[in-house]
Parts: sequence; C-alpha cells; structure tokens
Amino acid sequence: MTKELVERLRELLEQARREGRGSEVEPLLRSFLAAPAAPAESPSPDVPITLGMVGDSAEMKRVFALVERIGASDVPVLIQGETGSGKELVARALHDVSGRKGAFLPENCAAVPAGLLESELFGHKRGSFTGAHADRDGHFVAADGGTLFLDEIGDMPLDMQVKLLRVLETHEVRPVGGNKTCKVDVRVVAATHRNLDEMVAERSFREDLMYRLNVVRIALPPLRERAGDVAHLVRFFLGREGRGTRASPQALAALEAYDWPGNVRQLENELRRALALGGDTIETSTLSPDIVAAGNGRPAQGRPG
Ligand SMILES: Nc1ncnc2c1ncn2[C@@H]1O[C@H](COP(=O)(O)OP(=O)(O)OP(=O)(O)O)[C@@H](O)[C@H]1O
Ligand SMILES: [Mg+2]
Repeated sequence: MTKELVERLRELLEQARREGRGSEVEPLLRSFLAAPAAPAESPSPDVPITLGMVGDSAEMKRVFALVERIGASDVPVLIQGETGSGKELVARALHDVSGRKGAFLPENCAAVPAGLLESELFGHKRGSFTGAHADRDGHFVAADGGTLFLDEIGDMPLDMQVKLLRVLETHEVRPVGGNKTCKVDVRVVAATHRNLDEMVAERSFREDLMYRLNVVRIALPPLRERAGDVAHLVRFFLGREGRGTRASPQALAALEAYDWPGNVRQLENELRRALALGGDTIETSTLSPDIVAAGNGRPAQGRPG
C-alpha cells in the first residue's frame, strides 16, 4: 500500500471520528488493512490457484471442495490447522463463496486483553468502564450480514466462551453496560492451531461451545502433507515478485524435502530472504543452512522414494 493511500485512509478515519462514526468505520478499516496479500490470480499459467489459494494436492482439493460445498450456508465453521497453514485464507474463501454482502471481520482472540474482548465483540455503552468515552459498536454489529472470523478461539477466556455461546444461540448481542439486545445476522468462522478436543477433555474449552462452532470442521493439512504443493508455492511466490527468479533443481529439492513447521508462512519468508540475497537463480547456498541440512538425505515431498 502506498504512503499516500495510508495517509488518505487516516484522514478519512479522523473525519469519521469527528462525525461520531468512528466506531462504524474503524472495524471496516481494520478488516481492510488486515487483508493478507491473497493470491488473486496466478502469476503464471502453471500455478494452480483455487479460491485464492495455491495448491492441487489431493489434501487441498478436499479442502477446496468442502469450502465450495458449505460456503453458501450460514452454519458456523471451525478451521483447525498448524500455524501458517492458511486458516485465514480459508476463512476469507468461505466468506467470498458465501455471497454475504456484509464485511469479513477478523478478530484474534489471543491478541486482545481478556477484559477488552467482550467490548470488542459486543460493543459498549458510554461510561460502562473507565475509558468508554462514547458508545461503540462491536464486531458482531460491524459484521452484520457478513462473516466474523474468530481466530485463536482456543485462547478465548471461559467467561467469554459462555457469552459467545449465548450469541450463537440467540443471534442477539448486548453491549457492555447496555440493557437492550440487538439482532445480528453474522456467520461465525472460528480457527485454532490447538486441539480443542483435548482442551474440552481438560475443561479449558467449553464442550457446548465446541459443538456449536464445530458444525462443520475443516482440518487444514500441514504443508509437509500436501504432496507437490511446495513446488507450486515456490513458483507462485517467486512469480509474484515479477523478477523472473527461479529456484535451481537442487534448491527446489531441498525445499521439498524440508518439513516446514511454520508451513506456508515459513516458506514465503524463506523465499523472501532468498530473493533479498539476490541472484537470478536461488541455489542451495542462498537458502537457510538449517533448511538445507534438515532436508539432506530425506526424500523430496511428493516424489517416490
Ligand atoms: N495455499 C496458499 N497459497 C498462497 N498463499 C498462502 C497459502 N496458504 C497460506 N498462504 C500465505 O501464508 C501466510 C499465512 O497464511 P494465514 O495467515 O492464512 O495462516 P494461518 O493458518 O492463519 O496462520 P496463523 O496460525 O499464524 O494465524 C499468508 O501470507 C498467506 O497469504
Ligand atoms: Mg491466522
């Protein structure tokens, strides 16, 4: 995004605040700014992209088919997957397929201090707590007619879990300090890298909420289990730079043999690093030594061996 555009957005936000519409505009702006650089189209015809995601492994095809099948319904969806595996992209794809006219709003439950999450989600009335200088709509109201993406749901405190469950059952929210509820039509998509079944067993996640959120569960496979997708992603990320950089067969083999604990995000960052080091071709010498070392002696992903 250019500096001018950021400046202009800041001015518009200030203006909306002066007009008392700050709480309306802020979440939309945040949703816009939070948008990842989703792959809208393929940089070259041989990169397979479906629903904004690169991949054509059998595992990812199953995910794409599920998103297409349930996209249009408004049932809650739980996306489970390791860090960096693309949970947010799947949530956005669900929103895009749904045709819902409202906004897609992401909220990271782990990033908001426990005491503030209720006001973030449900809004608050002026004077309901120190610092509540004006009425404020929460994300449920801002995402009315759209999709609310509750990321890291496993980190939501137990008292908030009860409140969320009530909203999912009644489709009504009550702002903090308010005495009136308001109807909302919001599709909730939740995601976590944790094992919610284990959390339920040890009582750190409510079983009733798990069943509510888990109407459909999408298990996003880790990158190391998507046979053949590393090569597509490498072509995609290098092609996106538009510099014509390629990976040598040895470098590609090392990347394919690595097991990517940080999944697609880690691969993306590794390629950024390699591109920054320069050259027309990425060689094993331009890759992180630990990635090359870890891959040595292991068969490359998606290849017999
Ligand atoms: N299939 C894919 N094709 C292209 N880019 C992808 C794909 N999957 C993930 N990415 C990219 O990888 C990065 C991480 O994806 P995303 O944020 O969706 O993962 P996540 O599972 O939500 O991660 P975290 O657990 O850390 O929140 C983003 O930059 C995203 O655009
Ligand atoms: Mg995420």
